[in-house]
Amino acid sequence: MTTPPSTSSTVSAPGVTASAAATPSVTAPTAETTAAAPAFGSVPAPTMVRSDVIAGVFGTPQAVPTAPLAIHPFAHALHYGSACFEGLKAHRGYDGVVRLFRPDRHVARMRRTAELLCLPVPPAELLAEAIRAAVAANLDVAPAAPGALYLRPLLLGMDPNIGAAAAPSEDALLVVLASPVGDYFAGGARTLKLLVETELPRTTPQFGEAKAGANYVMALGVTRRARAEHGADQVLFAPGGDVQETGAANFLLLDDDRVVTRALDGSFLHGITRGSVLQLARDLGYQVEERDIHIDELLAWDGEAALAGTAAVLSSVGTLVHEGREVTIGSGQVGPNTVRLRDALLAIQRAEVADPHDWMVAVDG
Ligand SMILES: Cc1ncc(COP(=O)(O)O)c(C=O)c1O
Repeated sequence: MTTPPSTSSTVSAPGVTASAAATPSVTAPTAETTAAAPAFGSVPAPTMVRSDVIAGVFGTPQAVPTAPLAIHPFAHALHYGSACFEGLKAHRGYDGVVRLFRPDRHVARMRRTAELLCLPVPPAELLAEAIRAAVAANLDVAPAAPGALYLRPLLLGMDPNIGAAAAPSEDALLVVLASPVGDYFAGGARTLKLLVETELPRTTPQFGEAKAGANYVMALGVTRRARAEHGADQVLFAPGGDVQETGAANFLLLDDDRVVTRALDGSFLHGITRGSVLQLARDLGYQVEERDIHIDELLAWDGEAALAGTAAVLSSVGTLVHEGREVTIGSGQVGPNTVRLRDALLAIQRAEVADPHDWMVAVDG
């Protein structure tokens, strides 16, 4: 994800008490402090939910204080990358009710990722309940719009065996973390600059669909270089000229009539925001084209381009850097179709309008 504009948070970063006897806890934010736009993902909510997995069987999820985890140094996840996560939001509507956005889709995607990583697959009901419980336990730090409570389910392979490179981990740990977040692009809408990478893919072909940490670290060096050398916010991966996605969001082209994006395949993450924006586009009468996008079409595009994701929602792309040359997309400004679709999505998430597709799931204490 792009580096968000700096925000001044009054909440301290996780302050961990080093104590051998007591369970250390993190500094918990209060409703007042979180209202001041905390930096995305840097503020832990006071409670997390954990389920210990023994021999593939998930234990009943328990709400516990957000605190450092005890992990055996031989744990599979630490050595062989059997670690994955999800990312979704619960939004406080204008009626005060907190609702999760499409948790069923995030549950399904995490189950798919776990399967790809040969980790124990969380039962859908149990994972949904763990996410719901993490929201319920942290309702008092769920900010009002444009903030949200970000949920981060995490699954780690825990078999304590450094000889098990070629064997799946049967023990695991599932935790659902929560973090109050502000508007990712607080401080006014601005357009993003993307470096187009035409040689490297974001990840390996069989892992594009997985939400695994290894995918992100693979894109990190490229993204860091793009930032340092070109002032780019993100890298758009287009190996061989075939546009995939950025390091942490899906890529869309828009104009007054159409929304165009890559069709689902195994090479990239199937974003829940992407699917939702396409549905809203259809509802609003746009023609939706799910197909390959070649770099040549992209460079000649006369409309708008945007990134879709849980954090970015729908953010306008103004400039591409391709082979050292800067190319402006359309007017280079935030486009009206992007704004229209973004507002339509936010209105549902914030319960300002009816929820025609039953995407929102209310959570009470
Ligand atoms: C690589 C990647 N692609 C796309 C997305 C967008 O997915 P979603 O809309 O489900 O957040 C994300 C964000 O989670 C991502 O990390």
